[in-house]
Amino acid sequence: MIDTERIRRDFHILESGIIYMDTAATSLTPEPVLDAMLEYYRGYNANVGRGVHHLTRIATDEYEEARKKVAEFIGARAHELVFTRNTTEGINLVASGLRTRLHKGDKVVISLLEHHSNLLPWLRAKSDLGIDIEVVKPSGRMRELELSVSDFEAAIDEHTKLVALTHVSNAIGSILPVGEIAKLCHANDALLLVDAAQSVPHLEVDVKELGCDFLAFSGHKMLAPTGIGGLYIREELMPEIEPLMVGGGAVETASFDDYRLKGANERFESGTPDISGAIGLGAAVDYLTAIGLDNVRLTEEKLTEELIEGLQSIPGVEVYGYGTSAADRGKRIGTVSFNLAGKSPDEVALRLDNEGSIIVRSGHHCCIPLMNYLGIEGTVRASLYLYNTESEVNRLLELVERIATQPSPS
Ligand SMILES: Cc1ncc(COP(=O)(O)O)c(C=O)c1O
Repeated sequence: MIDTERIRRDFHILESGIIYMDTAATSLTPEPVLDAMLEYYRGYNANVGRGVHHLTRIATDEYEEARKKVAEFIGARAHELVFTRNTTEGINLVASGLRTRLHKGDKVVISLLEHHSNLLPWLRAKSDLGIDIEVVKPSGRMRELELSVSDFEAAIDEHTKLVALTHVSNAIGSILPVGEIAKLCHANDALLLVDAAQSVPHLEVDVKELGCDFLAFSGHKMLAPTGIGGLYIREELMPEIEPLMVGGGAVETASFDDYRLKGANERFESGTPDISGAIGLGAAVDYLTAIGLDNVRLTEEKLTEELIEGLQSIPGVEVYGYGTSAADRGKRIGTVSFNLAGKSPDEVALRLDNEGSIIVRSGHHCCIPLMNYLGIEGTVRASLYLYNTESEVNRLLELVERIATQPSPS
């Protein structure tokens, strides 16, 4: 178990008394991460990979050290990790970088649970290139919205060029069996892209164990600042992927007629990067590693169970996705979506904020097709992380119960 009280002292924003349960949108940022970024600006503010002066050498070393740490955190080698702005950029880089490999009649398989950031790039490829998209929906435990390996077996065939899949649903918190799906991809010569925006912050992710070809994630959901993320690209594929941008920093040589790009991660990183952001992400990885993701997971699981059981005991509350039965154990993270009968998600979220300083997300969670499938406008989503406590969960439950039993203002 983790020392939550000790951890909470690193998040000064909590001193205001807020109860922060919107980590799935963006996490809070601890002091050591802020310190690491300020240290860059105060001590060795310089560009990276350019020139020979001592400041640029320090900045480059720190920047590349951060890349090494972040890569190790996901089981990759440093040169297989491209720094991006966020998950969205990583997925778009892959979608646009694969254009020359995707042709009319090729299939991209996605799931019902995808975030718009792992849907729109493929819809664009569909309209530009004439590819087909197959959406995998649950066929077994429909109520839990369980996507099982057999659901994917039916969809992945010889026409499938790519499976683009979320590892953990941002809307309902469920974990998808991507390791098993990777085996199906290999058997059908299909590539696998994992949207790991919600998994890397919460689960131990190892790209080699998973067997994926691409994995995209965002720093700001794992204690790092906004504006920095990572994209793993399997080394063998790197030369075949067209970069999203070309320009300074990525070039081996150039003339007025032609240019030659550098290899590995460097070919994808034109222009001055988010240096302090990358250093901050490295510090966030240090922070999470020191605590241990397994410890984070244990704490989160305990709180999640209390939260779901508490919500389910309140009349009129519906919880989406997995519950707390033995069959559901280990299949979700601490992101819990629910609705109160007769109340809009925005009304509930506003009251939680106004009456309890409880910060939760309401709306469609960038998953409009999923909300349409469920026949709802959206949900209230409470997402937990290492700084949340049992008393905060209890406070949320008390308020939800109060809101559930009071009539809505007309
Ligand atoms: C599953 C999932 N994919 C993609 C994204 C997009 O992340 P970003 O906005 O950092 O690019 C999010 C953000 O909420 C997400 O939860």
